[in-house]
Amino acid sequence: MSINLLYSGKAKDIFSTKDEDVIIAHYKDQATAFNGVKKEQIEGKGILNNQISSFIFEKLNAAGVETHFIEKISDTDQLNKKVNIIPLEVVLRNYTAGSFSKRFGVEEGIKLETPIVEFYYKNDDLDDPFINDEHVKFLQIATDEEIVFLKEETRRINELLSDWFRQIGLKLIDFKVEFGFDKDGKIILADEFSPDNCRLWDANGHHMDKDVFRRGLGKLTDVYETVWEKLQVLK
Ligand code: TMP
Ligand code: ASP
Repeated sequence: MSINLLYSGKAKDIFSTKDEDVIIAHYKDQATAFNGVKKEQIEGKGILNNQISSFIFEKLNAAGVETHFIEKISDTDQLNKKVNIIPLEVVLRNYTAGSFSKRFGVEEGIKLETPIVEFYYKNDDLDDPFINDEHVKFLQIATDEEIVFLKEETRRINELLSDWFRQIGLKLIDFKVEFGFDKDGKIILADEFSPDNCRLWDANGHHMDKDVFRRGLGKLTDVYETVWEKLQVLK
């Protein structure tokens, strides 16, 4: 059996397995921000994100969301269905924050009447630009039908996640997800869900996510550890 590195990302390495439809995602101890401009090794981050993402994906699978997640196989590794990643970062915002606040000149933490879904074109060389549905079609990334599905599925995922985080005293401000085509051409949720790709605020407005690293607010793993401990209530 040969295991080969298929892809090395900023936070994960992806390896092949003897089953061509299954890959291993290895979570690394690396934190990056601003498209890799800020980069640090943070011991224990890979273990925490693998734990948190496995936990969330298991719950999403159980709730009937089709995902790539199969099982967690070690502290830092999980088995995932192999997908063809759709080169879109699908962002959903429940509250204003981050680049949204910057773009529109509004303060952070304002509740959006209806959650807003945005697309960013996954392309490091171009700095993942903000794009609209027509750009998605121009780039031949997805059809009209697929665009509708991506938005509706992201809203459905948001309802589940917002409810779970509400139960443990955290506000899901916004998040980023990625989807891929599985071997049958079906669109399923892929990548990860961890404090690396969402914003979570506690009751005091403290950041419980990667903004701690982006903005230099404290020790990232302490915060991720707290999120992991809180999630135990949902077991
Ligand atoms: P933004 O406000 O910087 O656009 O980020 C929106 C959400 O997307 C936030 O939860 C962080 C997440 N995100 C990623 O997961 N990867 C990225 O490359 C960026 C820019 C944001
Ligand atoms: N994921 C991006 C990076 O690794 C940016 C971010 O999350 O802020 O640089």
